[in-house]
Amino acid sequence: MNKTSRDGFTSTFGVLLATLGSAVGLGNIWKFPSLTGMNGGAGFLLVYLLATLLIGLPVMIVETMLGRAARANAITTFERVAPRGQWWWQIIGWMGFLAALFIMSFYSEVAGWVYAYVFKAAAGAISTTDPKAAGATFGALVSNPVTSLVWQWVVLGLTGSIIMLGVAKGIEAVARKLMPLLFILLLVLCVRSLTLPGGAVPGLTFLFSPDLAKITPAVILTALGLAFFKLSIGMGCMLTYGSYFRDDQNIPATATRVMLADLSVSLLAGIAIFPAVFAFGFEPAAGPSLVFMTIPAVFTSMPGGTVFMTIFFVLTAVASVGAILSLLEVPVAILSERFGCGRKRASLYTILAIALVGAPAALSQSLTAETKIFGMNPFDLYDFLSSNVMLPLGGILICLFAGWVYGLPQLQKQLGNDGKLPNGVLVRAVFFLVRYVSPLLIGIVLLHGLKVF
Ligand code: PHE
Repeated sequence: MNKTSRDGFTSTFGVLLATLGSAVGLGNIWKFPSLTGMNGGAGFLLVYLLATLLIGLPVMIVETMLGRAARANAITTFERVAPRGQWWWQIIGWMGFLAALFIMSFYSEVAGWVYAYVFKAAAGAISTTDPKAAGATFGALVSNPVTSLVWQWVVLGLTGSIIMLGVAKGIEAVARKLMPLLFILLLVLCVRSLTLPGGAVPGLTFLFSPDLAKITPAVILTALGLAFFKLSIGMGCMLTYGSYFRDDQNIPATATRVMLADLSVSLLAGIAIFPAVFAFGFEPAAGPSLVFMTIPAVFTSMPGGTVFMTIFFVLTAVASVGAILSLLEVPVAILSERFGCGRKRASLYTILAIALVGAPAALSQSLTAETKIFGMNPFDLYDFLSSNVMLPLGGILICLFAGWVYGLPQLQKQLGNDGKLPNGVLVRAVFFLVRYVSPLLIGIVLLHGLKVF
């Protein structure tokens, strides 16, 4: 309960980098291209952009703000900021706790594939531009139950140890160093992909020229889910990070910068991948395997490919660590602050829970492939439930709380840093969005997308 005894970020620039470290991850390199490919390309991208601006950004701002105002984990925050007796707002934190476990259950598996690809790349085992060969290598990895589980455990063991070191030391240090390199490597990939014969025109058309007929309610829900997933919002993660923010941090500016930087990484990944998809004859709707087949193909067709490919997968693995640490922070902060079990034990319990819940997801291409719930294997189910249901639901509740309970005067005080920053039009715009626009839009998209109507 003592504010000064909590760990925190040590510089405003460090805050920006750590928040960026949470946002940028497999969501950019893996999820964004796969979903864009599966949902018809440019139309999906357009909806995703709108969802990010109208819903993602305002939710990110108020979520971070609530965490900083309360300086506590996702559950305790609502104990502190909600009026007496309105205990139900704490449901946001509990749902976030669960969402973190579900997301980690499949995220750790995908990170495991990335780790495995580091070694395959170094050994030259994935240097091919042939869709069949690339698909076979990926298929062999994910359909082996033993390697699937072991890679997931490696990821959990590594990230679990990092989080035991504590917020400032662990998270900042990792987030700070390597992101710019990944960005540069993506740029190089884009150049190569765009200059592949027969790739640029169909690739860029697919990515940027929308076919409105392809935008169905299900596509819209998926795009909304991606917007939440990308910005790490709707599940208490930005709230928890906000609780470590400095008092003088400009929250709206930080959130906007993170959103823009995150978006550019995703777009670069898209531009690196889709021209190559068409140049080499990959299937844009291949799903989760898309990136693991296409990226190696682009590297294979450039000088020094093996080395760069290895570096690329190492950097992607590092990017995934930043995101995973922020995911783990949600349950770890809750367990250690509410149940007084100490950071080390809280981390251990969290990792063990994920290993348990995550095993069926890791085995989704082997032992549990036929275990279908709502027609989905465990991997897809965890992803769908968390990204497309729990995060948007959490988002609605956060908006309703900020817009109707917390109110404009508090918003002006918090986002204006107690009068030290301007708190006029922009804060009013955020207030208007979270009070009316975002909850209404999320509600409509959820009801339509889940076929409740
Ligand atoms: N934003 C991260 C990514 O895109 C994933 C994430 C989701 C992290 C939710 C934290 C919370 O990879």
